[in-house]
Amino acid sequence: MKLRLIAEGSTKRERKALRWGVSFLVGNVLFDTFGRSDIFWKNIRRFKIDLSRVKHVAISHEDWDHTAGLEGFLRTQLGTKVYICAKTGKELKRLIRANGGIPVEVRKTRRIAPNIYSLGQMRAGTGRGILYEQALVVKSRNGFSVITGCAHPGIVRIVRRAVKIFGKKIYAVCGGFHMKDNTHEENKKIITELQTLGVRKVLPLHCTGAVAASLFKKIYPQNCAVLREGGTLTL
Ligand SMILES: [Fe+2]
Ligand SMILES: [Fe+2]
Repeated sequence: MKLRLIAEGSTKRERKALRWGVSFLVGNVLFDTFGRSDIFWKNIRRFKIDLSRVKHVAISHEDWDHTAGLEGFLRTQLGTKVYICAKTGKELKRLIRANGGIPVEVRKTRRIAPNIYSLGQMRAGTGRGILYEQALVVKSRNGFSVITGCAHPGIVRIVRRAVKIFGKKIYAVCGGFHMKDNTHEENKKIITELQTLGVRKVLPLHCTGAVAASLFKKIYPQNCAVLREGGTLTL
């Protein structure tokens, strides 16, 4: 299974320029659509990504930095199913319908495409209030891999749930882990817990933050992947 990074913002400077968010192509599923549609489309052209292959869209959560390219994408492929958390606000559901997409509300863990699952909606308390987020789980020869948008419910909670539902063979955990505002001790604890859960490989991106990402590199020296926009990781 191929994981391709379409667009990503992870530095403070990128955040300031609103060049923020993340977007992946996971097999034939488009997972999140970045925070700026101009850059989303620029990268699609630049990296010659064939979006006609996309059969489904999944949106991790409704934050702007994960939904900007959605409207434009749906207009190019009318009738595409968009998997969203059932408790997502009305606005996103309306946007999907208004642009010819079909919102599919996710509650529990469910299959989206062959070997690609939503882990189901998880509740997250944030400084801005409650929000709901889903992660993807991908099955490959290596085991199960977890792909997150922002991981607002907590990356350890997410992986723990994946272990409970899919079993102990968690190969890789990839995406935004939302560790950028944590203390060093908190981050150390998170990474140790991921090791205890048996995570073999990590790909820290987006809101993981540069400090936490370098700690991952230290603790997972051989198995901390790096992926630039346009790049592919085989899971
Ligand atoms: Fe985000
Ligand atoms: Fe977010």
